[in-house]
Amino acid sequence: MSEFAKLSLPNGKEINLNIKKATIGQDVIDISPLFKETGMFTFDPGFLSTASCESKITYIDGDKGILNHGGYSIEDLAKKAEYLEVAYLLLNRDLPNFEQYQKFCQNIKNNMLVHEQISILFRGFPRKAHPMAIMVGAVASLSAFYHESMDVASPQGRMDVVYKIIAKMPTLAAMAYKYSIGEPIIYPQDNLGFAENFLHMLFAKPTSSHKVSSTLARAMEMIFVLHADHEQNASTSTVRLAGSSGANPFACIGAGISSLWGPAHGGANEEVIEMLQEINSFERIPEFIKRAKDKNDPFRLMGFGHRVYKNYDPRASVLKKACDEVLGELGIKDPLLDIAIELEKIALNDDYFVSRKLFPNVDFYSGIIYKALGIPTNLFTVIFAIARSAGWISQWKEMIEDPAFKIGRPRQLYTGENKRDFVEIKNR
Ligand code: ACO
Repeated sequence: MSEFAKLSLPNGKEINLNIKKATIGQDVIDISPLFKETGMFTFDPGFLSTASCESKITYIDGDKGILNHGGYSIEDLAKKAEYLEVAYLLLNRDLPNFEQYQKFCQNIKNNMLVHEQISILFRGFPRKAHPMAIMVGAVASLSAFYHESMDVASPQGRMDVVYKIIAKMPTLAAMAYKYSIGEPIIYPQDNLGFAENFLHMLFAKPTSSHKVSSTLARAMEMIFVLHADHEQNASTSTVRLAGSSGANPFACIGAGISSLWGPAHGGANEEVIEMLQEINSFERIPEFIKRAKDKNDPFRLMGFGHRVYKNYDPRASVLKKACDEVLGELGIKDPLLDIAIELEKIALNDDYFVSRKLFPNVDFYSGIIYKALGIPTNLFTVIFAIARSAGWISQWKEMIEDPAFKIGRPRQLYTGENKRDFVEIKNR
């Protein structure tokens, strides 16, 4: 039986709004007929209470610290699944069987090379450019290479886009890195796993053979899994909104990368390391905690807080444990990890952070692992972008395949000037 929410307006009019049921988690009040029925919009800056779409891909319970893809917990996936298995899961809402997985991996491998012309594009960027700036341009530029041949109206055409995006992201990221350090580009290899291939393209040189350590490859695979999707966050919503106009999907992923770059989103991992390096000693932690609490100081504890998680971010728990394991296996002792643990301990016992439910998020520990793996700081967010490409393109595909999908077009509350007469410049 349908349930309704009753809305009473100041003019005495009452309307019933249908309540749509979630499988788990929050039901929603369907306000789509509101404007037609009342002539009013709703107002929700930052989308604190607004579901922008219906999705079957990822479920988050921020209060309980739960993150599931297609019903599978992130803890299980991080421990047991490869990144491409999770990508398949996001795209198909089911894990692949052996044959399906072999075929999926082969399709990814077949698409890892990028058009040689793209390496010329790289030469136009300054060597010192941030790799995220290069990624925004390079990934969006794929639209120039695959616009005419692309057929997003057919299921096969959409899968072709999916394979190209997931496969070419690590290649472009490694090219951006090699370009920035002035080394020759290393091509992807068919005989390597997804994460292994990326690390090989980053660290191999044409002059010698390079074997990626299995510890590093496993850690990178897990990092990719942990970042693969996170439902309707800023970058994913950006991809959906850009794609809702029917824009070229490669250009839409470029828009998603731009959104991810910000320090309030994926850019935080880089800033966490910079913050820990600036803190540098246990003695200085109270000074930074004080600054984070000071409303006149724009400083925030980077890697703390989350729009959705008001309990521990489950990805941060997995990463914290992985951090200990990876550093242990590699025999690395990183003083930044000690500072991070102490900072977390102090913040979690401070009423300011406790009362606002500010816990470490995924970015708090990822930077320390990246550092241990020898990844330069300015590549941290790029790695996030590689991983998130599976989520972005799955969400884009889900939207395109929804028969009810419409161009995204939010409304506004106008509070500017009313109509007035134009005044000639000499009279102003
Ligand atoms: N340090 C200090 N205070 C904080 C922090 C922080 N990191 N995060 C939030 N607060 C405070 C705010 O000042 C605010 O206090 P008030 O109620 O007294 O005004 C309260 O907590 C709520 O903060 P909002 O900004 O309203 O929370 P919102 O949900 O909009 O923001 C966000 C979430 C952007 C992640 C925020 O916590 C933040 O800036 N964190 C630091 C950056 C970061 O780590 N980003 C990565 C996010 S995870 C990801 O994208 C992968």
